[in-house]
Amino acid sequence: MIIAQISDTHIVLDTPDADRRIDDFERTIADINALDPAPDVIVHTGDVVHNGRMDEYAQAVAILGQARAPVFVIPGNKDDRTNLRAAFAADGYLAPDSEFIQYAVEHFPVRLIAVDTLNPGSNKGGFCAERARRLTDMIHGETTKPIAVFAHHPPFEVMVGPERHHFETPEMMSRLREALQCSGRVVAVISGHVHRGTSGGVGNIPATVMPSVATTLRKGEYPAQMKMRPVYHIHRFDPIWGFSSESRIVARTSSTASLSETRQHQERHSSALST
Ligand SMILES: [Fe+2]
Repeated sequence: MIIAQISDTHIVLDTPDADRRIDDFERTIADINALDPAPDVIVHTGDVVHNGRMDEYAQAVAILGQARAPVFVIPGNKDDRTNLRAAFAADGYLAPDSEFIQYAVEHFPVRLIAVDTLNPGSNKGGFCAERARRLTDMIHGETTKPIAVFAHHPPFEVMVGPERHHFETPEMMSRLREALQCSGRVVAVISGHVHRGTSGGVGNIPATVMPSVATTLRKGEYPAQMKMRPVYHIHRFDPIWGFSSESRIVARTSSTASLSETRQHQERHSSALST
């Protein structure tokens, strides 16, 4: 089973880099569509849009509509539950009347469980007792398959970057970590939010974080020739060896090349002027 993970596209319509965020998202979907073998599923681990607005979601839905594999989304701190649910209602996997956006996808060899860590009004994650109860019930709802869990905020101490803790309180993160370890069947925890690639663990469960697809918001050091190229993750599941994860760099297109070359020319020109 092959899962393509995308995250933190932060679609916006009125900032100077709005077109670039759309372009990053479109080129990432095109790159995933060209994978051979094709992924079984695409999961977006949140911050689909930047302000939770319906016009932003309309743009995101149009881009994800180009994907060949089925797409599942979870909310990030910049998302709005009501608008996200409305935008993706036609796909049929989001319960219209549920307080939280948590669900299980059952028709693959690995169960996919989406966890809602949105804490409205805060950029940090939340995880209340009610969400823990629902997650535990979902995990116990099937007892034969391994499970991959998707949560926007990483439920472990992130050792790179300025911020180590991404939940509102340590108790909230502990509550989620405890729920994830309740069965022994969760074999991967997959997140975004940090905008840089890193890894950690939840007990014995390996946990990964992918960078933001939005290249203008990406953190960490990248060589100049990669500044305009989004990175996404591929998670492959083998029944014996479990998950292996790979970072993939979106193919360089002619439009990327010309934008990049224009920028390099401008940088050379401005440095020549300043010396
Ligand atoms: Fe984000």
